Formats: sequence, structure tokens, C-alpha cells
Amino acid sequence: TKQIPEVKMFDSTVNVVTEGYNFVGKRMSQMDTDVFEARILGKKMIVMTGRDAAELFYDESKIKREGAMPKRIQKTLFGVNGIHTKDGQKHKIRKAMFMSMMTDERLAHLRTILQEEWKRKGLEMEQKKRAVLFDESEELILRAMCRWTGVPLTDAESWRRAYEVGVMIDAAGGVGKRYREGEKVRTETEGWIQEVIEAVRDGRMKTEEGTPVHTVAFHEEEGELLDAHMAAIELLNVIRPAVAVARFVAFAALALNDFPEWKGKLSTTKELNNFANEVRRFYPFTPFLPAVVKEDFEWKGYLFKEDRHVILDVHGINRDPRIWEEPEQFNPDRFNDFVDDRFNFIPQGGGDPDTGHRCPGEPIAVMIIEESVRYLTESLSYEVPEQDLTINMVRMPTLPKDRFVMENIRVTGK
Ligand code: HEM
Repeated sequence: TKQIPEVKMFDSTVNVVTEGYNFVGKRMSQMDTDVFEARILGKKMIVMTGRDAAELFYDESKIKREGAMPKRIQKTLFGVNGIHTKDGQKHKIRKAMFMSMMTDERLAHLRTILQEEWKRKGLEMEQKKRAVLFDESEELILRAMCRWTGVPLTDAESWRRAYEVGVMIDAAGGVGKRYREGEKVRTETEGWIQEVIEAVRDGRMKTEEGTPVHTVAFHEEEGELLDAHMAAIELLNVIRPAVAVARFVAFAALALNDFPEWKGKLSTTKELNNFANEVRRFYPFTPFLPAVVKEDFEWKGYLFKEDRHVILDVHGINRDPRIWEEPEQFNPDRFNDFVDDRFNFIPQGGGDPDTGHRCPGEPIAVMIIEESVRYLTESLSYEVPEQDLTINMVRMPTLPKDRFVMENIRVTGK
């Protein structure tokens, strides 16, 4: 077997922290390779990019998740020992619970809720002299998701809860204070949702069958309900990542601002869908994904040793010139003839969401972007004042610096 090219440095953590999204791509082009080894957070890791690497990453006979996700990310972003960390049969049973929420009927209901919430939000923003789209979107999405999942939320608490969920997401790539705040709000938010689960279980709160809160509260594994805390973690694994879509909403508004020629090309369902997909491809969100080698195997002449940690370069695959023509151009039309093979467009993971770890929330993420873009372009007029909209590629997760400030907002459509 060939030697996997190595980054010659005692530990590359500092580079990940100082180079962020560009860390992997820079090494790959410097060394002209799809795979390299580096020491990150004290562990030797195989970092890999490209469509074929994605296919390998999702081959469950070779790659597992147990032990892959750093505890600090579980303690802020995902919740400890939730679905992200499971393998095999345990994972499949848990995953079926999430996938059962995504029926056409339930998703159509969410679309209606989003349209109603945007109407309300438009009127609210009209009242303000100045609104920050990212913050408004987080609050809007939290309200919509609480309605859709069946979690009670009062108007008085919606901004605070949205802020706390936002802090949890933001803490994922943070150290020091940013990390500690994430941990703290996660504990609080889990407590809030755990109380809802307990109220549903002992009948104090009525729920409809088919709502996610009902599904999670009464989901059984080997004849037993989930521990109430674990149930809260998993219900939050539906609500939290939806709130994270506010980043894509801000990016979508930025795209409308930077590439205004696309505004007139959003009238059909397909055009709107292409635009949402291009936003998911073009703007940075998930940087990379971690996993572990299950047992020794050889891939493209390289030896992957049992227990070695591997990292998939999700961000790089979105910009891979072997997959995308002119990847640095924002061009929704590229999706007109794009053939998705499950490993070549993976902003939310690759493979099959039913059997593997691919995100179950892609239809929700796409729908939130579509309905936001639809409302912003069809029903609202606004000005974009002078501000700093640069995207810091070192910060993970990132967003336009001033979070997209809008002024002189007027509701113009229905
Ligand atoms: C998994 C990204 C929205 C629920 C994932 C993964 C990524 C991802 C990269 C990991 C795939 C892997 O481990 O191989 C995103 C992004 C989103 C988003 C960028 C939009 C901003 C959502 C939404 C939901 C959701 C709206 C709501 C249902 C989940 C769950 C998993 C997951 C439950 C774990 C799946 C598993 O381990 O089997 N997501 N996601 N995500 N996502 Fe999302």
C-alpha cells in the first residue's frame, strides 16, 4: 500500500482554528491529494475529500460513528449520545423515528405554517425601523417548529428561547466563553423540552398522534420508552437544526442582494428549489464530518487502519471542480441538469437518509429557504443599508458579519 500523505506538524489544531473552512482545501491543493493525515485535537486523523471519499465515508461496513464525535460538540450542538453517535441496528431504529415525521402530508402542513409565520413576521418587521434578518428568522423558525412539532411556546418566551437555541448552534465551533455559554443554554433548553415530554407522557398535555412531540414521547426501543432526557435531546435534534436554517435564510438574502439578476427568475417551483439548493451549495455551513475506521481496509491504494479517525471534507465537496463547473460562481441554473448520485451534493451529508446518517431534515431545510425567499421577493420591499456582510471563513459556523440588516421594510404582497 501507498503511504497516506502527511501534514508534517505536531498538531494541526491551531491551523483548523485559524483557517476554518479553508483548512482542508488548502492542504489538499498544496499536496495535490484527496487524502492526507494530520494530527488534530491530539489524534491522528485521515482527512479526505471528493465524491468517492463521500461514498467511502457512508459505507457502514468500513466506517462507524462510535467514538467519533468530540464530547465538546455533543455538549453544545447535538446533545450527548444522541442519534449522531449511533451505529448499526440501534441507529436504524432511532432513525426510523425521525424519518416517520417526514411524510408528504406533515411536510405540507409545515409549509402552510411557514407561510403564515412569514406573514406575521412581515407585519412585525414593518413596525420596526430596522430589523436583523438572521435574528428575525431564528425566532420565526422556532415559532414555526414549535407549532409543527407540538411544543407549546408563548409569545413572551419566543425570543429568549430562539436566542438560546441560536447560542447552542453558535457554540459548536467555539472555545472558552462561547463554548461554556453553549453548554449552559443546552442544559436549560433540554430541561424545557424534557418537561414537555414528561407532561405528554403523563397526560397533562394532550398531543395529536403524528406530531413529532407525540412520536418522540412514545417511541419505543426494545419495548421501552426513551429515557425522558434522551427523548428531549432527540426532539431538540428536530427543532434546533431547523433554527440553524436561519443561516441559510441570511445567506439567501445576501445572494439576492449580491446577485440581483436571480430575483426575476424565481417564479416556478423548480426555480425556487434550484435557488435554495444553490444557497446550500455555495455558502459555508457544515465544514466537515467525523467518523472512525471500523476495521483495516485498503482504499485507492492507501491503508486505513482500524480505529483511525477520519474526517470528510463536506465544504470542499460543495466546491469540488470535478463535480461543479465554475464552482465559485453562484448559479442556481446548474441544478437544471444536475444528476444527484447521493454523494456529489452533500451539504447535509450523503448516502441514504433512511439507512445511513444523512440528515433527515433536508426537505425541511429546503422548504424554509424556499418560503423565506418567496416571501422576501414577492411580499416584502426593504432597503439594505451600508453594513459589513463579509463572511468570516475562520469562524465555524459562520454568517454575514452584520447578520443582514434591513430598513424601510414594507409589506407589499399578500
Ligand atoms: C444530521 C446538516 C437541518 C435533523 C445532519 C448531518 C449534517 C446535517 C451534515 C450529519 C450527517 C452525517 O452524520 O453523516 C444540516 C444542515 C441543516 C440541517 C446544514 C440546515 C441548516 C436539519 C433539520 C433537521 C435535521 C431541519 C430536522 C429534522 C438532523 C438529524 C441528524 C442530522 C436528526 C442525525 C441523522 C443521523 O445521524 O442519522 N444534518 N441539517 N437537520 N440532521 Fe441535519
